[in-house]
Order: sequence, then C-alpha cells, then structure tokens
Amino acid sequence: KLKIAVIGAGSTYSPEMIQGFIDRKEVLDVDSFYMMDIDREKNEIVAGLTKRMLEANDMHPKFVLTEDLGEAVSNADYVLGQIRVGKLEARILDEKIPLKYGLLGQETTGAGGFMNALRTLPVILNIADTMEKLAPSAWFINFSNPSGIMADAVLNLTKIKMIGLCNVPTGILRDAMPRVPKGTKTVDYDYVGLNHLAWLTGLYADGREILQEQLGNETEISGMKNTPVIPYPPKMLQQIGGIPANYPSYYYFRDEHIQKCRDAKLCRGEECEQIEAQLLKMYKDVSLCGKPDLLNQRGGAYYSEAAVSLIEALENDKQEYHVVNVLNQGAFPFMAPDDAVEVKCVVGRDGAKPVPLGHFDNWHMIGLMQAVKAYEKLTIRAAVTGSYTDALQALLVHPLIGDYRKAKGVLDEMLEANRAFLPRF
Ligand code: G6P
Ligand code: MN
Ligand code: MN
Repeated sequence: KLKIAVIGAGSTYSPEMIQGFIDRKEVLDVDSFYMMDIDREKNEIVAGLTKRMLEANDMHPKFVLTEDLGEAVSNADYVLGQIRVGKLEARILDEKIPLKYGLLGQETTGAGGFMNALRTLPVILNIADTMEKLAPSAWFINFSNPSGIMADAVLNLTKIKMIGLCNVPTGILRDAMPRVPKGTKTVDYDYVGLNHLAWLTGLYADGREILQEQLGNETEISGMKNTPVIPYPPKMLQQIGGIPANYPSYYYFRDEHIQKCRDAKLCRGEECEQIEAQLLKMYKDVSLCGKPDLLNQRGGAYYSEAAVSLIEALENDKQEYHVVNVLNQGAFPFMAPDDAVEVKCVVGRDGAKPVPLGHFDNWHMIGLMQAVKAYEKLTIRAAVTGSYTDALQALLVHPLIGDYRKAKGVLDEMLEANRAFLPRF
C-alpha cells in the first residue's frame, strides 16, 4: 500500500501524472494521494478533475488536499516534485530579460534556466530536508526544472534517495525506434548527456550498432511541442556524431533561436499561460473525466510515462532500463563520479544503477557537457550560499553566455526582478 505525495499538485500537468497511475492500477497499489500546493484554489480545480478520473476508473484511494508540506510528505513512499517557483509569471521574465542582452530567452537553458535554478533550489532542498525528518526512506522523484541541477544538488547535499526525471529521453528513444529493422529481437542504445544537453550516440539491433552508418544520409528533425524546430543540415548529424535531443539545438543554432524568440508575438511562457487558462476552465467542467487533448500542447506531455513507469520499476523490482538523472558513479568516464548526469540505468528495488558507457572519445560532446556541468556546480553553490561571485562565474562559464558585460547585465537585472524569491541573495 503506497502513499504518494505530489508537491505542486495544482499544476495543470497533474491529470497526466494521475493517468500514469490509472494505467498501472493492477501493478501499483496506491492507498493514498496527498496533493500539496500553496495555491489552494488551483489545487482544488485540478484535484476536481484528477479525482473524477480516478473514480471513473473505479479507483478510490484516500485523496487529501493540503497546503502543508509536512502532512503531505510524512511517511510517504514516493514524493513527486513538480513545482514552479514564481509560477509562469517568473518564467516569462526568465524568457524575456536575457533577450535584452542578446542572450537566449529559455526557461531551462542559459540565463533563464540559471534564474529558475536560483529560485527553485532552496524550495527543493526544503522538500528534501522535510523528507529527511518525516519520510527518510521515501523516494523523491523530481521533474521540477532545471531537473539536472536539482538532482545534482539533492544527491550531493542531502541523504534523500532521489531520481531526477525528464521526458526528453523517452521522446528521443521513441523517435529512434523506426530505425530498428523489423524482426529485431533485442534493442539497446547509448545515451550520453546531462539533462537538456543529450545525444543518442548508438542504437543496437540484436547487438549490431546501426545508428552511426545512418547519420550521414539524412536530416533528422527533433520534435517537441515547446521548442522551436530547426532542421539539421545534411551531414550535420554525422559531423556531430549522434542525434541530439531537442535542447542541444539551442547551442547549435544559437543566433537563429535568439532571433526566433525576438520575432515571436508571445514568448513560450505567455503561450503556456493561455493554454493553462483554457485547461483550468475545462477542468472545472464536471462532465470531463479524462485528460483533455489540449494538455498535449504542453512540452511535458507523456511525462507520466517516464514518472509512473519509473515508480513501477522501483516498486516491483523490474530491473529494466530507464534514462534518468542520478550521480554518474563512473558510467561516463569523462565526468566526475559525483556529477549528476542523464544516463541509462538499470532500475529495481535498490534504485537506479548507471550502466557504464564504455570507451567514448567524442570530445565535442564531452566538452559541452563538462562546461555545462561547471556552470551547474557554480549555480548550485550560488543558490545555496547567495554568492554573487559564484553566480557571475556560472554565467561566465556557460557556453551560451560567456561574455562579461552580458553576464553581469543580465545577472543584475534578473536578481533585481526576482528579489522576492531569493532569500539568500
Ligand atoms: C519538455 C521538457 C520539460 C519542460 C517542458 C516545457 O517536456 O523536458 O523539462 O518543462 O518541455 O514545456 P512547456 O509547455 O511548459 O513549454
Ligand atoms: Mn507505505
Ligand atoms: Mn525536461
């Protein structure tokens, strides 16, 4: 019998997550859902729908709405983190302020992601601290962004068992499957990266690597609802040495992405506000008992697939592969053992064990990962200590920023705009 605590349950994504539990009701015995959010009104609206969804599927767990983190977390088996500190309003600033300095305006990547991390990390660490006291053996499954930075911090700074999640890995693997010849019995793959900076570098059909030979022949388009698609020129995938997930596009086509942000009538956060308003209106309609299609307009579509299948693997000791964010522990020989990386793991009752990648000498990918990891470590230190120097150094080492005047300008303006969320600065 499982107690599931959802932190940030008022998110309009929650029906997605509940659907994952509905799909697995035979294999996961959920006794209670504790739906925690500081926004009571939104939590009630979203819970209205998620409760109807459960009932429509003949599921009747204890279902508690709360604003109290301790009540939610206490003795939980799984704590799901899906918070957005400062809501979409803060995200919109993360997307708009960097543009003034000629930098990318994106919620997880570059200066915007940095600011999001500064706001979010203290709240995530408070959840972990609360778990240490009230649910020390629970699993913390987090998708709050920037997910890789949250994982690195929680895994290195607390005793909590934690796994960082993202829907990008399942997306890129789903897209790659048509490459596997019909009749193949076993499929395996090499996935290399950090969260939102990752590539597929190998695909094995019955043990034979088939990806590299395909790369020269085609242009592959990364597809996700929320990130603008720029097609790869001929030969580019071969030149890179793998298929980038969607986010590396921001590095490969940096100027075009900045221009796209500038030209857009609404930034992505503003689009999300509109989608969210429509969703909340739909959720209030008591005749709706399922996840509406409109939710698939959001980039996090199908994340329940990643989240609840991961819980199933942990709970039922499935010993199956999941690509998740955990400490490297030697899996990528070019990263430190205590770097959180996005890596293929075997998941069972004991957790997620990274599978060693083996020999790897693509220094293009290695270099980007090492630079972004240095940025992540500095960002964590800045968030924890409130150090302006660490914050500035983080922006100076990030491959999408680097320039001193831009870094200082964007940092000062973002710190000022986010004052309310930065008790340590
Ligand atoms: C993808 C990413 C998530 C991100 C989401 C944004 O799913 O993996 O980390 O939160 O897109 O989607 P949105 O609809 O909010 O732009
Ligand atoms: Mn229990
Ligand atoms: Mn993600």
